Amino acid sequence: MNFKEKKVLITGGSSGIGKVIIAELVSLGTKHIAVVGRDPKKFEQLRMEFTDISFLFFEGNVAELDIIKQISAEIQSKWAGLDILINNAGVVSAGKLEDISDEDIIAQQNINVTGLILLTKYCLPLLKLSSEAAIINVSSGLGIIGLPFYAPYAATKAAVRQFSEAVRRELQDYPIHVMTVYPTATDTPMMTTANTSNMDTAEAVAKSTIEGLQKKSIDVFRGGEQMLNNRILNFQNPLEYDEKVKGMYEAMSKRASQHRAM
Ligand SMILES: NC(=O)c1ccc[n+]([C@@H]2O[C@H](COP(=O)([O-])OP(=O)(O)OC[C@H]3O[C@@H](n4cnc5c(N)ncnc54)[C@H](OP(=O)(O)O)[C@@H]3O)[C@@H](O)[C@H]2O)c1
Repeated sequence: MNFKEKKVLITGGSSGIGKVIIAELVSLGTKHIAVVGRDPKKFEQLRMEFTDISFLFFEGNVAELDIIKQISAEIQSKWAGLDILINNAGVVSAGKLEDISDEDIIAQQNINVTGLILLTKYCLPLLKLSSEAAIINVSSGLGIIGLPFYAPYAATKAAVRQFSEAVRRELQDYPIHVMTVYPTATDTPMMTTANTSNMDTAEAVAKSTIEGLQKKSIDVFRGGEQMLNNRILNFQNPLEYDEKVKGMYEAMSKRASQHRAM
Protein backbone atom coordinates (compact mmCIF):
# COMPACT_ATOMS: atom_id res chain seq x y z
CA MET A 1 0.00 0.00 0.00
CA ASN A 2 1.30 3.43 -0.92
CA PHE A 3 0.51 5.61 2.09
CA LYS A 4 1.64 8.89 0.51
CA GLU A 5 -1.59 9.63 -1.30
CA LYS A 6 -3.91 8.17 1.30
CA LYS A 7 -6.57 10.16 3.08
CA VAL A 8 -6.97 8.77 6.58
CA LEU A 9 -9.69 9.21 9.20
CA ILE A 10 -8.80 8.00 12.69
CA THR A 11 -10.93 8.18 15.81
CA GLY A 12 -9.03 8.63 19.05
CA GLY A 13 -5.90 9.68 17.15
CA SER A 14 -5.05 12.25 19.81
CA SER A 15 -3.76 9.78 22.42
CA GLY A 16 -2.22 6.38 23.09
CA ILE A 17 -2.23 3.80 20.30
CA GLY A 18 -4.03 6.11 17.84
CA LYS A 19 -1.45 8.85 18.20
CA VAL A 20 1.42 6.43 17.50
CA ILE A 21 -0.48 5.06 14.48
CA ILE A 22 -0.51 8.65 13.20
CA ALA A 23 3.27 8.87 13.76
CA GLU A 24 3.73 5.62 11.79
CA LEU A 25 1.58 6.90 8.93
CA VAL A 26 3.45 10.21 8.86
CA SER A 27 6.76 8.33 8.66
CA LEU A 28 5.38 6.54 5.58
CA GLY A 29 4.49 9.81 3.90
CA THR A 30 0.77 10.24 4.70
CA LYS A 31 -0.16 13.92 4.58
CA HIS A 32 -3.94 14.06 4.95
CA ILE A 33 -5.21 12.88 8.32
CA ALA A 34 -8.57 13.54 9.98
CA VAL A 35 -8.84 12.98 13.72
CA VAL A 36 -11.92 12.61 15.92
CA GLY A 37 -11.76 13.25 19.67
CA ARG A 38 -13.54 15.07 22.45
CA ASP A 39 -10.67 17.15 23.86
CA PRO A 40 -9.48 19.90 21.47
CA LYS A 41 -6.37 20.56 23.59
CA LYS A 42 -5.01 17.22 22.38
CA PHE A 43 -5.48 18.41 18.77
CA GLU A 44 -3.14 21.33 19.45
CA GLN A 45 -0.47 18.87 20.58
CA LEU A 46 -0.88 16.91 17.35
CA ARG A 47 -0.59 20.10 15.32
CA MET A 48 2.64 21.01 17.13
CA GLU A 49 4.13 17.53 16.81
CA PHE A 50 3.29 16.91 13.15
CA THR A 51 3.82 20.28 11.52
CA ASP A 52 3.81 19.00 7.90
CA ILE A 53 0.42 17.34 8.17
CA SER A 54 -2.78 18.78 6.81
CA PHE A 55 -5.11 17.79 9.66
CA LEU A 56 -8.88 17.87 9.77
CA PHE A 57 -10.00 17.89 13.39
CA PHE A 58 -13.47 16.81 14.49
CA GLU A 59 -14.22 17.68 18.08
CA GLY A 60 -16.98 15.53 19.52
CA ASN A 61 -18.24 12.21 20.74
CA VAL A 62 -17.93 9.49 18.12
CA ALA A 63 -21.12 7.95 19.51
CA GLU A 64 -23.24 10.92 18.44
CA LEU A 65 -25.00 10.58 15.12
CA ASP A 66 -24.87 14.33 14.38
CA ILE A 67 -21.08 14.33 14.74
CA ILE A 68 -20.79 11.23 12.57
CA LYS A 69 -22.88 12.79 9.81
CA GLN A 70 -20.88 16.01 10.07
CA ILE A 71 -17.60 14.08 9.76
CA SER A 72 -18.63 12.21 6.62
CA ALA A 73 -20.14 15.34 5.03
CA GLU A 74 -17.03 17.42 5.69
CA ILE A 75 -14.69 14.71 4.42
CA GLN A 76 -16.84 14.45 1.32
CA SER A 77 -16.63 18.20 0.69
CA LYS A 78 -12.93 18.64 1.62
CA TRP A 79 -11.41 15.40 0.30
CA ALA A 80 -14.13 14.00 -2.01
CA GLY A 81 -13.31 10.50 -0.74
CA LEU A 82 -11.57 8.49 1.94
CA ASP A 83 -8.97 5.71 1.75
CA ILE A 84 -8.42 4.50 5.30
CA LEU A 85 -10.85 4.54 8.22
CA ILE A 86 -9.29 3.62 11.57
CA ASN A 87 -11.91 3.00 14.25
CA ASN A 88 -9.63 3.26 17.26
CA ALA A 89 -11.44 5.40 19.87
CA GLY A 90 -12.49 3.38 22.88
CA VAL A 91 -13.35 3.64 26.56
CA VAL A 92 -13.33 1.21 29.46
CA SER A 93 -15.02 0.94 32.83
CA ALA A 94 -14.10 -2.19 34.78
CA GLY A 95 -15.11 -3.85 38.03
CA LYS A 96 -17.75 -6.27 39.27
CA LEU A 97 -20.71 -6.06 36.88
CA GLU A 98 -23.10 -4.97 39.61
CA ASP A 99 -20.69 -2.17 40.59
CA ILE A 100 -20.28 -0.65 37.12
CA SER A 101 -22.66 2.27 36.69
CA ASP A 102 -25.51 1.97 34.22
CA GLU A 103 -24.17 5.09 32.49
CA ASP A 104 -20.73 3.52 31.98
CA ILE A 105 -22.23 0.31 30.61
CA ILE A 106 -24.34 2.24 28.11
CA ALA A 107 -21.52 4.60 27.15
CA GLN A 108 -19.09 1.72 26.50
CA GLN A 109 -21.60 0.20 24.09
CA ASN A 110 -22.35 3.54 22.43
CA ILE A 111 -18.72 4.58 21.97
CA ASN A 112 -16.98 1.24 21.38
CA VAL A 113 -19.68 -0.37 19.23
CA THR A 114 -22.61 1.74 18.02
CA GLY A 115 -20.49 4.77 17.15
CA LEU A 116 -17.96 2.57 15.36
CA ILE A 117 -20.69 0.89 13.31
CA LEU A 118 -22.41 4.17 12.41
CA LEU A 119 -19.17 5.91 11.48
CA THR A 120 -18.29 2.97 9.24
CA LYS A 121 -21.75 3.12 7.67
CA TYR A 122 -21.45 6.83 6.91
CA CYS A 123 -17.87 6.48 5.61
CA LEU A 124 -18.59 3.54 3.30
CA PRO A 125 -19.77 5.63 0.33
CA LEU A 126 -16.50 7.59 0.59
CA LEU A 127 -14.37 4.46 0.95
CA LYS A 128 -16.08 2.89 -2.06
CA LEU A 129 -14.68 5.71 -4.21
CA SER A 130 -11.11 4.64 -3.39
CA SER A 131 -9.17 2.22 -5.58
CA GLU A 132 -7.33 0.88 -2.51
CA ALA A 133 -9.14 1.34 0.78
CA ALA A 134 -9.03 -0.10 4.28
CA ILE A 135 -11.07 -0.21 7.44
CA ILE A 136 -9.14 -0.94 10.62
CA ASN A 137 -11.15 -1.75 13.73
CA VAL A 138 -9.41 -1.81 17.09
CA SER A 139 -10.83 -4.57 19.27
CA SER A 140 -8.96 -6.07 22.25
CA GLY A 141 -7.62 -9.37 23.54
CA LEU A 142 -10.68 -9.18 25.81
CA GLY A 143 -12.82 -9.36 22.67
CA ILE A 144 -11.53 -12.89 22.11
CA ILE A 145 -11.11 -14.17 25.65
CA GLY A 146 -13.62 -12.83 28.17
CA LEU A 147 -12.07 -12.17 31.57
CA PRO A 148 -13.69 -11.33 34.91
CA PHE A 149 -14.38 -7.70 35.83
CA TYR A 150 -14.39 -6.60 32.19
CA ALA A 151 -17.75 -8.05 31.08
CA PRO A 152 -19.30 -4.92 29.47
CA TYR A 153 -16.01 -3.90 27.86
CA ALA A 154 -15.31 -7.45 26.64
CA ALA A 155 -18.79 -7.56 25.12
CA THR A 156 -18.11 -4.37 23.16
CA LYS A 157 -14.80 -5.66 21.86
CA ALA A 158 -16.27 -9.04 20.84
CA ALA A 159 -18.92 -7.07 18.94
CA VAL A 160 -16.16 -5.20 17.10
CA ARG A 161 -14.60 -8.51 16.07
CA GLN A 162 -17.86 -9.90 14.69
CA PHE A 163 -18.75 -6.62 12.98
CA SER A 164 -15.38 -6.65 11.19
CA GLU A 165 -15.84 -10.20 9.98
CA ALA A 166 -19.35 -9.62 8.67
CA VAL A 167 -18.44 -6.33 6.96
CA ARG A 168 -15.33 -7.87 5.40
CA ARG A 169 -17.48 -10.54 3.79
CA GLU A 170 -20.14 -8.02 2.78
CA LEU A 171 -17.54 -5.88 0.99
CA GLN A 172 -16.07 -8.73 -1.07
CA ASP A 173 -16.72 -6.90 -4.35
CA TYR A 174 -14.87 -3.72 -3.29
CA PRO A 175 -11.15 -3.07 -2.89
CA ILE A 176 -11.68 -2.31 0.79
CA HIS A 177 -9.53 -4.34 3.12
CA VAL A 178 -11.04 -4.90 6.58
CA MET A 179 -8.64 -5.64 9.42
CA THR A 180 -9.11 -6.05 13.17
CA VAL A 181 -6.44 -5.34 15.77
CA TYR A 182 -6.41 -7.10 19.15
CA PRO A 183 -4.09 -5.29 21.56
CA THR A 184 -3.43 -6.82 24.96
CA ALA A 185 -2.70 -4.55 27.95
CA THR A 186 -0.82 -1.61 26.43
CA ASP A 187 0.84 1.27 28.23
CA THR A 188 -1.39 4.22 27.27
CA PRO A 189 -3.48 6.79 29.20
CA MET A 190 -6.34 4.26 29.09
CA MET A 191 -4.37 2.07 31.49
CA THR A 192 -3.33 4.75 34.00
CA THR A 193 -5.94 3.58 36.50
CA ALA A 194 -5.40 -0.15 35.86
CA ASN A 195 -3.32 -1.83 38.50
CA THR A 196 -1.03 -3.79 36.20
CA SER A 197 2.51 -3.93 34.80
CA ASN A 198 4.42 -5.68 31.99
CA MET A 199 2.37 -3.96 29.35
CA ASP A 200 2.91 -3.85 25.61
CA THR A 201 3.98 -0.49 24.14
CA ALA A 202 1.74 1.67 21.96
CA GLU A 203 4.67 1.82 19.51
CA ALA A 204 4.70 -1.97 19.08
CA VAL A 205 0.92 -2.08 18.62
CA ALA A 206 0.99 0.73 16.05
CA LYS A 207 3.89 -0.84 14.15
CA SER A 208 2.19 -4.23 13.91
CA THR A 209 -1.04 -2.47 12.84
CA ILE A 210 0.67 -0.79 9.89
CA GLU A 211 2.62 -3.97 9.05
CA GLY A 212 -0.66 -5.89 9.13
CA LEU A 213 -2.19 -3.41 6.72
CA GLN A 214 0.78 -3.70 4.37
CA LYS A 215 0.47 -7.51 4.43
CA LYS A 216 -3.32 -7.30 4.14
CA SER A 217 -3.73 -9.34 7.33
CA ILE A 218 -7.27 -9.96 8.48
CA ASP A 219 -6.34 -9.95 12.15
CA VAL A 220 -3.45 -8.48 14.09
CA PHE A 221 -3.08 -10.23 17.43
CA ARG A 222 -0.81 -8.92 20.15
CA GLY A 223 0.38 -10.89 23.17
CA GLY A 224 2.69 -13.31 21.34
CA GLU A 225 2.79 -17.05 21.81
CA GLN A 226 1.24 -16.94 25.28
CA MET A 227 -1.88 -15.23 23.97
CA LEU A 228 -2.02 -17.64 21.02
CA ASN A 229 -1.90 -20.63 23.38
CA ASN A 230 -4.58 -19.04 25.58
CA ARG A 231 -6.82 -18.48 22.57
CA ILE A 232 -6.45 -22.08 21.45
CA LEU A 233 -7.10 -23.44 24.95
CA ASN A 234 -10.09 -21.14 25.48
CA PHE A 235 -11.56 -22.24 22.13
CA GLN A 236 -10.87 -25.95 22.46
CA ASN A 237 -11.40 -26.39 26.18
CA PRO A 238 -13.12 -23.41 27.86
CA LEU A 239 -13.56 -25.30 31.13
CA GLU A 240 -9.83 -25.86 31.39
CA TYR A 241 -9.34 -22.17 30.70
CA ASP A 242 -11.83 -21.40 33.49
CA GLU A 243 -9.43 -23.22 35.83
CA LYS A 244 -6.58 -21.04 34.60
CA VAL A 245 -8.66 -17.93 35.22
CA LYS A 246 -9.22 -19.04 38.84
CA GLY A 247 -5.47 -18.63 39.30
CA MET A 248 -5.54 -15.05 38.07
CA TYR A 249 -8.84 -14.03 39.66
CA GLU A 250 -7.35 -11.99 42.51
CA ALA A 251 -4.87 -10.23 40.22
CA MET A 252 -7.67 -9.38 37.76
CA SER A 253 -9.82 -8.07 40.60
CA LYS A 254 -6.96 -5.83 41.75
CA ARG A 255 -6.21 -4.69 38.22
CA ALA A 256 -9.83 -3.76 37.57
CA SER A 257 -10.75 -2.23 40.92
CA GLN A 258 -9.99 1.38 39.90
CA HIS A 259 -9.78 0.89 36.15
CA ARG A 260 -11.89 3.51 34.43
CA ALA A 261 -11.08 5.60 31.33
CA MET A 262 -14.32 7.03 30.02
N1 LIG B 1 -4.44 0.34 26.19
C1 LIG B 1 -4.82 -0.93 26.25
O1 LIG B 1 -4.39 -1.70 27.13
C2 LIG B 1 -5.77 -1.49 25.22
C3 LIG B 1 -5.91 -2.88 25.14
C4 LIG B 1 -6.78 -3.41 24.21
C5 LIG B 1 -7.49 -2.58 23.37
N2 LIG B 1 -7.34 -1.23 23.46
C6 LIG B 1 -8.13 -0.38 22.58
O2 LIG B 1 -7.28 0.43 21.82
C7 LIG B 1 -7.96 1.63 21.47
C8 LIG B 1 -7.10 2.83 21.81
O3 LIG B 1 -6.91 2.83 23.21
P1 LIG B 1 -5.72 3.59 23.94
O4 LIG B 1 -5.18 2.65 24.93
O5 LIG B 1 -4.83 4.24 22.97
O6 LIG B 1 -6.59 4.66 24.77
P2 LIG B 1 -6.37 6.21 25.11
O7 LIG B 1 -4.95 6.55 25.22
O8 LIG B 1 -7.26 6.44 26.27
O9 LIG B 1 -6.97 6.93 23.83
C9 LIG B 1 -8.32 6.84 23.52
C10 LIG B 1 -8.60 7.85 22.43
O10 LIG B 1 -9.98 7.76 22.08
C11 LIG B 1 -10.57 9.05 22.13
N3 LIG B 1 -11.96 8.89 22.54
C12 LIG B 1 -12.43 8.22 23.62
N4 LIG B 1 -13.76 8.30 23.66
C13 LIG B 1 -14.14 9.02 22.59
C14 LIG B 1 -15.40 9.44 22.10
N5 LIG B 1 -16.52 9.16 22.74
N6 LIG B 1 -15.43 10.16 20.97
C15 LIG B 1 -14.29 10.49 20.31
N7 LIG B 1 -13.08 10.11 20.73
C16 LIG B 1 -13.01 9.39 21.86
C17 LIG B 1 -9.74 9.81 23.17
O11 LIG B 1 -9.78 11.21 22.98
P3 LIG B 1 -10.72 12.16 23.89
O12 LIG B 1 -10.60 11.68 25.30
O13 LIG B 1 -10.18 13.54 23.65
O14 LIG B 1 -12.09 11.98 23.33
C18 LIG B 1 -8.34 9.28 22.86
O15 LIG B 1 -7.79 10.00 21.77
C19 LIG B 1 -9.29 1.59 22.22
O16 LIG B 1 -10.31 1.16 21.35
C20 LIG B 1 -9.06 0.56 23.29
O17 LIG B 1 -10.25 -0.05 23.72
C21 LIG B 1 -6.49 -0.66 24.36
